[in-house]
Amino acid sequence: MKQNNSFLTGCGFHLPEKVMTNHDFESLVDTSDEWITTRTGIKQRHISTGQACSDLGYQAAVQALHEAGLTPQQLTHVLMTTFTPDTHIPNAACVLLEKLGQRNIAAMDINTACTGFIYGLEVARGLCALSEDANVLVVASEVLTSRVNIKDRSTSVLFGDGAGAAVLSGSRPPGHELCGNLTDVCLKADGSLGELLTVKGGGSAYPLRLGQMVSENFFIQMEGREVFKHAVRSMFNVSMEILERNNLRPEDVNLVIPHQANIRIIDALAKKMNLDPDNLFVNVQKYGNTSAASVPIALGEAIQLKRIKAGDLVLMVAFGGGFTWGSALVQY
Ligand code: UT7
Repeated sequence: MKQNNSFLTGCGFHLPEKVMTNHDFESLVDTSDEWITTRTGIKQRHISTGQACSDLGYQAAVQALHEAGLTPQQLTHVLMTTFTPDTHIPNAACVLLEKLGQRNIAAMDINTACTGFIYGLEVARGLCALSEDANVLVVASEVLTSRVNIKDRSTSVLFGDGAGAAVLSGSRPPGHELCGNLTDVCLKADGSLGELLTVKGGGSAYPLRLGQMVSENFFIQMEGREVFKHAVRSMFNVSMEILERNNLRPEDVNLVIPHQANIRIIDALAKKMNLDPDNLFVNVQKYGNTSAASVPIALGEAIQLKRIKAGDLVLMVAFGGGFTWGSALVQY
């Protein structure tokens, strides 16, 4: 396996306190707990009550820094992966930087929808390859409820808010109990399929004028059935590609952490890869689809639950709007 110098030293995650169950939706749109459960596996999701992207991200970041044994002052870069930033300018990474009490380092946002964290990992890996002194904070935070049309039952029941974070360092810190080496990342995109999953309103191609009311295109719009098929196929292909180029097979992986969008997508991926259910991490039932935050929330939770131990090989894989998709391998 290829070796490099990007060590995952700390993870954290945060969900806003308020929980919305499937039953809570029954009074808002024509849906049922039974439909949502059988079609998606989701039972509940956490909902922001006024917290912005950087607020959720801050909580996850503080945990990740604590785990890494670093202070914000030791960071060299802050990357925020999100499509629901607090504001367009300043970017969410700068807002987070200020909340962390750090200044004069690089801070940027990355938007690749649900694949955001995997893209963030690759950028962090590059920065760590440039300097062994790099300490890169990758935060994936989404307040999806700010871009969900509650009246659209085909999307509103799917999404939740939350944040996950990871610290990657250019050199292995001494005495770390659980330190992962990010050995490879595989990224893909295909703009020809972008229309299947969009958030358009307010963008420069769909500007909002002063006093104008927002329309449906301000919110997430998705051709669910089509996206489903692409998600399964793409996550399978990019998982196999990263494994094959590292001379690995699915059975060599101790834990697969897929994007948590729909239990049927996860099950289909697991079936195609012939994965043992014990080697698959699933928490979609508790949080719904938290977009970019879903993989790092799952990673943080898997570590908390001791589903990952020293010596384990972890495969993360995600798919999202754009389309974008990608996979990452971490050797603990
Ligand atoms: O994170 C980025 C990637 N996103 C995804 O991966 C999401 C991918 N897509 C999916 O997860 C699924 O396609 C959905 C969960 C969005 C939809 O499930 P589906 O099994 O593909 O359902 P469908 O869209 O084919 O709709 C089946 C029926 C339709 O009614 P008719 O036309 O058969 O009468 C929908 O109108 O279910 C209806 N429906 C609902 N019924 C009750 C759609 N949403 C709901 C709802 N409650 N919330």
